[in-house]
Amino acid sequence: MTKTLLLLPGDGIGPEVMAATRTVIDWFNGHGAGFACDEALVGGSAYDAHGVAITDETMQKAVAADAILFGAVGGPKWDDVGYDVRPEAGLLRLRKELELFANLRPAIVYPALADASSLKRELVEGLDILILRELTGGVYFGEPKTITDIGNGQKRAIDTQVYDTYEIERISRVAFELARTRRNKVTSMEKRNVMKSGVLWREVVTETHKHGYEDVELEHMLADAGGMQLVRAPKQFDVIVTDNLFGDMLSDVAAMLTGSLGMLPSASLGAPDALTGKRRALYEPVHGSAPDIAGQGNANPIAMIASFGMALRYSFEMIAEADRLDAAIAAALDKGVRTPDLMSEGMTKVDTDGMTAAIVAELDATA
Ligand code: NAD
Ligand code: IPM
Ligand code: MN
Repeated sequence: MTKTLLLLPGDGIGPEVMAATRTVIDWFNGHGAGFACDEALVGGSAYDAHGVAITDETMQKAVAADAILFGAVGGPKWDDVGYDVRPEAGLLRLRKELELFANLRPAIVYPALADASSLKRELVEGLDILILRELTGGVYFGEPKTITDIGNGQKRAIDTQVYDTYEIERISRVAFELARTRRNKVTSMEKRNVMKSGVLWREVVTETHKHGYEDVELEHMLADAGGMQLVRAPKQFDVIVTDNLFGDMLSDVAAMLTGSLGMLPSASLGAPDALTGKRRALYEPVHGSAPDIAGQGNANPIAMIASFGMALRYSFEMIAEADRLDAAIAAALDKGVRTPDLMSEGMTKVDTDGMTAAIVAELDATA
């Protein structure tokens, strides 16, 4: 059966890492996978062509696809466009309208990269943690969200943090289910000492835990202390579950444990469909459009390629293929090839195409 993928390359290095991933998809198609790829504009490139960050037509394609691969959006070119049509609005619309509430951001330290982290080798060697970020609620979407004149030349900006019980409950369930497939521990992070949403967050996570998940170890941490622990002793964690904004920040921090922001993939999943059991899903690197290196052809494609690996795993149940791709990435790194973001003495510097070719060569070696 054909599997449909909608590719949304976006802006900056988005199209560069997507082209690399396309090469990997083609490799799997050459070995019987049967992916049919469609492509559309999103972000600044969609704004330039259509005046919006994503068109209704592309939204319809996104709804129809079995999975979406998303590159990155944004850049200085669009700094002054209207707030509602800024590039990032395209990504937020996809997340919200497709109800992709569960964002899995694994931070894994590949053996060859234990010295590439900004932390000491012994702190990160063997690290394998999962940040589970709530993705459709919180301060990203809460109303009111306004800037108003309040007189005397003053303005007031308001963002609103909102969480309902059901939103916290469903992300908690995902956290406990995922923990069971790993090391069986969940750390929930909020700021109940300051925020009402933090009080409810802890209450609902605790309550959900009592109903069917007591075999999973649960701990609670204030999110600021959690950030500190993440760089002090990251291996204490297994699954970290947290809200939309804390999850955004903590996952960028976690990226540096692995050596580069260019290493972190993610999966954004919806609830299983009542009839088919299929989840809506979008896969994207954690990094952005990297305007500082865009157009040079030397972005690290691993986060995007590994995001496709997560699609194999979570949307298509192609577990052996996903394992093979992860092993190929690890093997390529073992051979010493490094994009500039990972470069260190004695290694072989390659560009985006060079890294992709090295990964494909490892896939060939195991085929
Ligand atoms: P960024 O993630 O784009 O870049 C941060 C730093 O990491 C830069 O120095 C960049 O060169 C480096 N980097 C990121 N990805 C890399 C890769 N694959 N290989 C090598 N180096 C890499 O964050 P930023 O600079 O704060 O944001 C730039 C733009 O991207 C903004 O418009 C922002 O809104 C947007 N953004 C988009 C997404 C997304 O589309 N999902 C995510 C984050 C930021
Ligand atoms: C991310 C990004 C996005 C976010 C932006 C581009 C809207 O930083 O996916 O981590 O804040 O969620
Ligand atoms: Mn982010």
